Amino acid sequence: MSRGSAMSRGGAMSRGGAMGQGSPAAAPLLDIADLVVRFGPVRAVDGVSLLLPAGPYGLALVGESGSGKTTIGRAALRLVTTGGGTIRFAGKDITGLRGRALKDYRRAAQIVFQDPDNSLDPRMRVGGSIAEALAAHRIVPRGQAREQAGKLLAEVGLDPAFVARYPHQLSGGQRQRVAIARALSVQPRLLVLDEPTSALDVRAQAAILRLIGALRTQRSLSYLLITHNFGIVSELCEQTAVLYLGRVAESGPTGVLLDRPAHPYTRALRAAVPELGRRAPAARLILPGEPADATSPPPGCVFHPRCPLAVDRCRTEVPLLRPVGPGRMAACHRAEEVLATSSAWPGPGPASTAEGNPPGSTAAAPPA
Ligand SMILES: Nc1ncnc2c1ncn2[C@@H]1O[C@H](COP(=O)(O)OP(=O)(O)O)[C@@H](O)[C@H]1O
Ligand code: SF4
Ligand SMILES: [Mg+2]
Repeated sequence: MSRGSAMSRGGAMSRGGAMGQGSPAAAPLLDIADLVVRFGPVRAVDGVSLLLPAGPYGLALVGESGSGKTTIGRAALRLVTTGGGTIRFAGKDITGLRGRALKDYRRAAQIVFQDPDNSLDPRMRVGGSIAEALAAHRIVPRGQAREQAGKLLAEVGLDPAFVARYPHQLSGGQRQRVAIARALSVQPRLLVLDEPTSALDVRAQAAILRLIGALRTQRSLSYLLITHNFGIVSELCEQTAVLYLGRVAESGPTGVLLDRPAHPYTRALRAAVPELGRRAPAARLILPGEPADATSPPPGCVFHPRCPLAVDRCRTEVPLLRPVGPGRMAACHRAEEVLATSSAWPGPGPASTAEGNPPGSTAAAPPA
């Protein structure tokens, strides 16, 4: 689609990787260009391009359920069949890898799921689970696997004696730590963290986020952090891509993107996070309606049925993802107005514009 090619021609900075912020010469660790993934009639990923520099570096994929985040993460790990585009890891196209080369890639790129029970065998002791990963990739001699498993547990903040426990003897947060230890055991260069805290209680969430922050430095990790919650990205991710119906709505450095969104969808998501919002939780903005049916996306801007700023043009003309500021891209006809009227947090209320609704409002905005 035209959207995708426009992005790749836009160069390194335009694809979510902050190549302008530190390592201009190095090839990105992960370079996804014009990615398409279809499930029957559903275009789960519809021309997405992303760049992830070598670590320590975090790229957040944010969006509501069904926006294609998990599918992008799975595609990056060669766990789904792609219908178009390229995925390069350290400069090499991984879409055609087979045999030994695929096995090596599967070691270099690991995924941590939302629910740790998906990656831990309930019948296997924790030490055995980790040792299995170590053995599969010959990280240490078999005789040293248990000791190494204990060290990994210590690295993720668990008692090394937990090697003897079964998953059901641990809390949800502890199980997620084990899943992270297992992923780290094979010394990956890329980690996909798919909603790693959303199955946990608030305290365990905070602890896991601190752990990810510590590991990123110690291990120089590069990761995709998938989440529907803006509240967790600011500390952990240099860049953020906001996804809507399988497309990038907006991307850029996390700080400025959160501080002054350029897309109405980003602004609505931001407002839905109580700790970020400038209003009390009871009065926060709620995005009206559901995402459109992915089998028949609306014409024009796919966000227009829910967008408080939609004008006639939005109903017919697809907004291309285009540069809207240093290192920033947005797919909105009115991005400049949105940027100009997005208040930094905390800030004053919305301003009005000549056309359509005031960019600071949403259909479900509480009375001022
Ligand atoms: N294995 C699958 N088979 C059919 N449809 C799928 C499959 N996985 C995902 N989808 C569809 O693809 C879209 C994107 O899903 P997903 O990547 O899981 O989104 P997210 O992780 O953002 O919630 C959704 O419409 C979802 O229903
Ligand atoms: S203003 Fe128009 S182009 Fe921008 S998000 Fe809303 S509907 Fe889409
Ligand atoms: Mg998901």
